[in-house]
Amino acid sequence: MPDVTIYEVGPRDGLQNEPGVVPVEAKAEFIERLLAAGLPVVEATSFVHPKWVPQLADAGELMTRLGETGRRLPVLVPNERGLDRALELGCEFVAIYGTATETFARKNLNRSLDEQFAMFEPTVARAREAGLDVRAYVSMCWGDPWEGDVPVDQVVSVGKRLFDLGASQLSLGDTIGVGTPGAVSTLLDACNAAGLADDVLAVHFHDTYGQALANAYAAWQHGVRTFDASAGGLGGCPYAESATGNLATEDLVWMFRGLGVETGVDLDALVATSVWMAGVLGKPSVSRVVQALAG
Ligand code: HMG
Ligand code: MG
Repeated sequence: MPDVTIYEVGPRDGLQNEPGVVPVEAKAEFIERLLAAGLPVVEATSFVHPKWVPQLADAGELMTRLGETGRRLPVLVPNERGLDRALELGCEFVAIYGTATETFARKNLNRSLDEQFAMFEPTVARAREAGLDVRAYVSMCWGDPWEGDVPVDQVVSVGKRLFDLGASQLSLGDTIGVGTPGAVSTLLDACNAAGLADDVLAVHFHDTYGQALANAYAAWQHGVRTFDASAGGLGGCPYAESATGNLATEDLVWMFRGLGVETGVDLDALVATSVWMAGVLGKPSVSRVVQALAG
């Protein structure tokens, strides 16, 4: 049994930010190779408005192509329309994505901070009624490009409200990668004090300032055991300009291997997958571990 769960977001958070659209056949192969490399959870795609994220407009076609394998994979849904699309395809696991700041709520969701809950509440209620597992994300937990520092209380209050809608896990997102290890511990302490224990939390780091791995280590030392990461370090967020790639899955696996923490991931198979995806995208992986091992 792995000691930690790596929640792979490359096919969704990675590919949503690519300038071009990756062919649906390559997306399906990417997901199948990630699963074969031992990643236990692979977030497949998003049922968002196709005009907002054209890179993932083929979500329905992708899930159909994946068939039975795809059903247990999480997919992003912002609202009931997205949920309907996911339910039609038999998806069993959805993720809503709220945000801790007013500005990003407007830019990413076309809603105010408060209005986002009215969108998520019926979405989660219906998903739970249908027997689906629900994850909630909260973005901009350690800083926002328009608002700067985000008060810890505000992050905790939004996160708790999202979680209490009926989620089984809350993923704390450092959307623009400004967090540092001390701030990670501070927010985790505050979450614990509000009744969000480490075992319902996940951490989602972007590597804009080179802090993602140090932040993951701080969260692991704190007691968190679910880590979002993206194969090859793909990623960003189309609605947060200063967001760059996610923490690379290979870098995380390498660190845990050194710590004697079992991830269940075959690092060689994962590196080979990222090298192949780099060929599809026509640019080298930014992951230091991929560069070192593939070289
Ligand atoms: P809106 O324009 O306010 O939507 O967008 P609306 O409810 O007013 O509906 C307008 C039209 O869109 C309607 O069509 C709806 O049917 C349609 P019409 O009646 O005019 O013909 N529509 C949809 N169509 C397909 N799928 C849907 C859907 N919803 C409405 N789901 C909305 C609101 C939330 C949909 C929009 O803002 C949106 O799609 N945003 C996407 C933002 C996004 O995907 N961002 C990236 C993911 S978040 C992220 O990356 C952060 C994360 O990684 C964590 C971290 O790093 O912190 C998770
Ligand atoms: Mg992200």
